[in-house]
Amino acid sequence: MKGIVLAGGTGSRLFPLTKITNKHLLPIYDKPMIYYPIQTLVDAGIVDIMVVTGGKNSGDFLRLLANGKSFGLKHIDYTYQEGEGGIADALALAEHFADGQKICVVLGDNIIEKSIRCAAEAFRKQPKGARILLKEVDDAERFGVAEVANGRIVGIEEKPKHPRSNYAVTGIYMFDETVFDKVRKLVPSNRGELEITDVNNAYIREGSMEFSFLDGWWTDAGTFSSLLRAANLVAQTRESNSGAGIVYAVGHTD
Ligand code: DAU
Repeated sequence: MKGIVLAGGTGSRLFPLTKITNKHLLPIYDKPMIYYPIQTLVDAGIVDIMVVTGGKNSGDFLRLLANGKSFGLKHIDYTYQEGEGGIADALALAEHFADGQKICVVLGDNIIEKSIRCAAEAFRKQPKGARILLKEVDDAERFGVAEVANGRIVGIEEKPKHPRSNYAVTGIYMFDETVFDKVRKLVPSNRGELEITDVNNAYIREGSMEFSFLDGWWTDAGTFSSLLRAANLVAQTRESNSGAGIVYAVGHTD
């Protein structure tokens, strides 16, 4: 399975932070944002990765990531999205790279605590279709929201005013090779974008959408409050994993 990180778009919700740099190069605690989705793929055993960039600073991705040595990779592929045509528009650019294989797509501003290895394994065994990762949240109206009945997803609504569930569709998607045909059939939404939710609904209509629940915390980082939340979550997790908090609790301040 190949991996694709979508890091296009203008990051307009984070202006002026994004006036001179790309959203995905902003820091989340001690690393640039783009490091996290790449690590998500690597931790799931996916090492053939393409980064879709965009905007004015795409060259900085190459300078930062180079050939992926710091992730233990031998190589990273890059491509460039012109404009901000939506998540599915960015995904379309990866068709040549996918080369008929299954893909795991991670949005460049999605940060998770734990591994998606189990879901990736389940998708590797899945004969066809798609698999998405759901997470229960308190603010479902900010996301794509899945309606689940009898253990199946029956529909996804993009940012509904009155969500039918609190199951947010996270920005981690696993697709078979038919995804690019589905993208070709899309029409732009009211906000003028090719929506990933429309791609997912196409899989739901043909009865081939599966799902897993995401383990651990999950956040996007595309607004001021979620950018801060992401940094705090990473910092807390890092501290509790390193035991730093315990050291300070017993009085060592150096
Ligand atoms: O975070 C999960 C949510 O992401 C899902 O629940 C929604 O269903 C999905 O539509 C998406 O919602 P957002 O409106 O928050 O997505 P946003 O426009 O912030 O884009 C998220 C990432 O996708 C962004 O960091 C980079 C990539 N992207 C986005 C656009 C619009 C691109 O690569 N190109 C684009 O044109």
